Amino acid sequence: MKREVLPEREIPPMGLLPVTARWSDGRLSIAGHDLGALAREWGTPLYVYDGETVRQELAALRQALAAAYPGLTEITYAAKAYFAPRFASKLAALGLGVDVVSLGELHVAQRAGFAPEKLHLHGNNKSAAELRAALELNLQAIVVDSLDELMFLESLARGAHVGAPVRRAPRIWLRITPGLTVDTHAYRQTGHHATKFGIPIAGGQAAEAIRYAQNSPYLNLVGLHTHLGSQIHEVGPYVEAIQMLYALARAENFTPEELSPGGGWHVRYTEDAPDTQLETWVQSVAAAVQAECQRDGNPLPRLILEPGRWLAARAGVALYTVGTCKTSGDGTRWVAVDGGMADNLRPALYSARYTAIVPERMEDVPTERVNLVGKFCESGDFLIENTLLPPVARGDLLALPVSGAYQLSMASNYNLAERPTVLWLKEDEIEVLQPREDILSAAWWNSE
Ligand SMILES: Cc1ncc(COP(=O)(O)O)c(C=O)c1O
Repeated sequence: MKREVLPEREIPPMGLLPVTARWSDGRLSIAGHDLGALAREWGTPLYVYDGETVRQELAALRQALAAAYPGLTEITYAAKAYFAPRFASKLAALGLGVDVVSLGELHVAQRAGFAPEKLHLHGNNKSAAELRAALELNLQAIVVDSLDELMFLESLARGAHVGAPVRRAPRIWLRITPGLTVDTHAYRQTGHHATKFGIPIAGGQAAEAIRYAQNSPYLNLVGLHTHLGSQIHEVGPYVEAIQMLYALARAENFTPEELSPGGGWHVRYTEDAPDTQLETWVQSVAAAVQAECQRDGNPLPRLILEPGRWLAARAGVALYTVGTCKTSGDGTRWVAVDGGMADNLRPALYSARYTAIVPERMEDVPTERVNLVGKFCESGDFLIENTLLPPVARGDLLALPVSGAYQLSMASNYNLAERPTVLWLKEDEIEVLQPREDILSAAWWNSE
């Protein structure tokens, strides 16, 4: 077993945990709830969300936006980050807008209490059913992703209006692809030339889309949008993208009433990750929009930010129980837990990195280099490849902070695993957001 000198880092890494995380006598609690006790009561894998962290992250974003931008603003949550119905209701109560990409997300948003004027429909291949639903509900905006979709939506809108006494052209944005590559994993880049997302500026498609939409009586073009990717920690590409959107609009004599540079601002999963502050992002984006409007002498558009990860990631913590610990033929040490890629695909999908902690022995120092893996039948089923852990053994509890976004929303039944219990924690209150799935009562059994 290899023992190493530790890199300098805070032990335990409290900055990665929810804001209500505390530890004493070696035990970690969130919102006053001891994680070991929760794991024993509810079983593992277990996910917990800290309500106060969601509230504080949103408050920080709202404050930064209000300080930096004198015009109208809106924050719309990217539902794909995590949108279980009970979680969605909490967000609706906080007055957020939401960006949805499917009928499922749309229906959950509606039931959770989001009004249609709070909803944007995104997606690179929206179905006729999704577009019709958006037309019928008159969503705040349908974010058109291609010239093909623009024509398709127009044909649906035209049909939808046949015989209607009042024609209400749908409010649309165009998702523009500026051709900018951001410094993040290739699978999280969405604004470069080779992406499947959006309408490229290069080659003139974006200009054509603006002209077409402006001339269509069945479409009401109100805004431009771009989304460069996720886990972005530099502001330069956002500023450049905003300048490109305005150059495009100017050339087509179009003045956007609404403008969104998307989401994508980064969250720290490890202590050595860059920590460019949220305010830096918001101020840069707001200043870039104001500079463009000043130059043209135009009123400020409503500025819409679309964070997903920023609002959900740090609030969530995943809890696992250690099972098999072993050494392979080459001397590699393996620690396996009772979850893995079925509840957290991010390491396999994006080589995402995490920091694991032992919530019942917080003072223990990470000294052992291991591969922390799941129980699923794939060699790529890592939670953390090549990491330092305190010594652990079968039965120990492990916690993975920053587990609130793009984990449960991508969870699967691989190996017929049951999706885990999810709890919402507040002081003196535990609410079940999702009960543990029961494979034997799942619909596909009962339909036989
Ligand atoms: C269109 C759009 N907006 C916003 C987001 C949110 O990104 P993030 O969770 O990184 O803030 C996404 C996620 O990929 C997206 O596709």
